[in-house]
Amino acid sequence: MPRQVSKALIPAAGRGTRFLPFTKAVPKELAPIVTTPALEFVVAEAADNGVTDVLLVLGPDKESIADYFSRNEDLEAALSAKGDEEALASIRRAEQLAAIHQTVQKEPRGLGDAVAHGEEFAAGEAIAVLLPDDLIDDRDSLLGAMIDVHAEHGGVVLGLLDVPREDIRRYGCVVPAAGSDPSASVVAISDLVEKPDPDEAPSTLAIIGRYVLPPEIFDALRETTPGSGAEIQVTDAINRLAHDGVPVHGVVFAGRRYDTGARLDYVKAVVQLAGRHPEIGSEFTSWLRDYVTTTP
Ligand code: UTP
Repeated sequence: MPRQVSKALIPAAGRGTRFLPFTKAVPKELAPIVTTPALEFVVAEAADNGVTDVLLVLGPDKESIADYFSRNEDLEAALSAKGDEEALASIRRAEQLAAIHQTVQKEPRGLGDAVAHGEEFAAGEAIAVLLPDDLIDDRDSLLGAMIDVHAEHGGVVLGLLDVPREDIRRYGCVVPAAGSDPSASVVAISDLVEKPDPDEAPSTLAIIGRYVLPPEIFDALRETTPGSGAEIQVTDAINRLAHDGVPVHGVVFAGRRYDTGARLDYVKAVVQLAGRHPEIGSEFTSWLRDYVTTTP
């Protein structure tokens, strides 16, 4: 019987500077993919993979996220009175996916600091960490495979993507352990390098926004000083664990992933997912074909 990971932490306390000006007032994690916020997709992914409890790490001015995951009884009553069952189900879904907990990161001091806010929540168990910037297609599975690898090996498990060498400069990059096959779907890892120069990168395996982290991560984070960008980097803490002999593995994802963290990628993600939308998908796709072929 594989060991389950039942808790997930989702960091949503960043400044979202790449999406200014709208993030002046609305957190980027609520940016809609057609009608559903990116954050809801990620909570749904966690729930689909056996997670029952989700900790949202929020910034001090992100009440809108807390509101999104709470009931809105006035709106429910209004939709009920109209008999709009579909809209009613859609506004209830987010808070029904899992038990949602919240904590506040007062200042965005980095992903590592956001994760450190989950120590009490983890209560000595391994947790999954899902970044809402990365969406995994619900027809493909990454987190489930990572949880299985954690059950087998323990330690840290990272979601990896084999990227074109030129792109590795945008990611954390892993060093496959001596003797491990870098082309396998599960890779043993000896080291992590943050945003390497493509010419010097030890591999083209990039860390994407899915982690399974053991409870030892919290001590490692306490000992981690701010690194790249004056932020506390979770990769530095994972490196510390790797050097202390904690197993670190990566699951190389070969499925469909949508990156919503940068402007161009976000627009691509919306187009791709709009094409799959149950109501507007086919009309949108035929319009898009027409638009692309007729627009000079
Ligand atoms: P990003 O670096 O992509 O988000 O962090 P950001 O900092 O908001 O974006 P830019 O660079 O300013 O445009 C990935 C995820 O980690 C969260 C973010 O909210 C995002 O969901 N995060 C990041 C935190 O929760 N706390 C932090 O200190 C940093």
